[in-house]
Amino acid sequence: MDLAAGEHQAKIRGCLECHGADLGGQVLALTPIGPMIPPNLTRGQGSVTAQYTDADWQRAIRHGVGPGGRPLILMPSDDNTSMSETDFAALVAYVQSIPPVDRVNQPTSLNLLGKILLGAGQLPMLTVERIDHTQQPKAVAVAATAEYGGYLAGICSGCHGANFAGGPAPGLPPDAPQAANLTPAGRATGWSTAEFATTLRTGKRPDGTQMQPQFMPWPAFSHMTDVEIEALQRYFQSLPPADKRT
Ligand code: HEC
Ligand code: HEC
Repeated sequence: MDLAAGEHQAKIRGCLECHGADLGGQVLALTPIGPMIPPNLTRGQGSVTAQYTDADWQRAIRHGVGPGGRPLILMPSDDNTSMSETDFAALVAYVQSIPPVDRVNQPTSLNLLGKILLGAGQLPMLTVERIDHTQQPKAVAVAATAEYGGYLAGICSGCHGANFAGGPAPGLPPDAPQAANLTPAGRATGWSTAEFATTLRTGKRPDGTQMQPQFMPWPAFSHMTDVEIEALQRYFQSLPPADKRT
């Protein structure tokens, strides 16, 4: 199994940003609706995955469902639903190869406000509910093509919308900047590939404004290869302009 390829997936998909560089879990944010604590994915003390079967990895990472059918909160599984079997197998092999870390974290949970909003249907926190579970794993050749960009853009659609028109991103606080419009109706398709790459890798736009990593997770994308970034840009340029998020 290609562990380096698996590590690359873990980086660009943000697993290491959220679950910690050692994958031992961490308190990521204290949100108004409760603490966000991505759990310990290693085999050490405090592990939530020690008893995982192959099917458990698939359900959690692609479908947002934990063992026993528990809907996962704030775990962006929608990014990975259509991940290729090759990338997925490499990712899981990499996660399983991580040295055990002993760290017992509190579980991610909703506080009273979170539960009230969830009950009122105002919280798109349970990824299982927004995933199209009929999506099949894709297999796309790695190249600077719009087709491969469309595959990678699964990482962006949770926040930027299924049609990439942007708008309020699920899981971000109400005072967070809205996710940008990445279709030709926005501005980024007009940037040069070098400008687009610098924006994704540093969070700094061509006009000099700096994006904050807690809103736009560019530190994860800083690990993307030139081919991945060019493929993404070609894909966004190929989209129909859209103003309204779907
Ligand atoms: C935005 C932050 C974030 C990112 C990115 C993220 N996770 Fe998670 N993940 C979470 C949170 C929060 C939970 C806890 C959900 C819960 O317990 O309801 C979680 C839960 C999980 C679980 C389920 C654990 C259990 O309780 O059984 C697995 C497995 C997992 N993540 C793996 C991954 C992998 C692999 C990646 C990269 C492809 C990843 N996560 C990316 C935040 C994240
Ligand atoms: C966790 C949510 C989230 C994810 C995931 C995400 N973005 Fe963003 N993105 C944002 C937000 C929020 C902004 C606006 C930030 C600001 O204005 O400070 C943004 C802004 C941008 C911009 C700037 C565009 C402009 O016109 O200013 C680009 C380019 C971008 N994102 C590309 C991507 C790509 C490509 C991916 C996937 C590989 C991605 N984003 C994934 C939330 C996200």
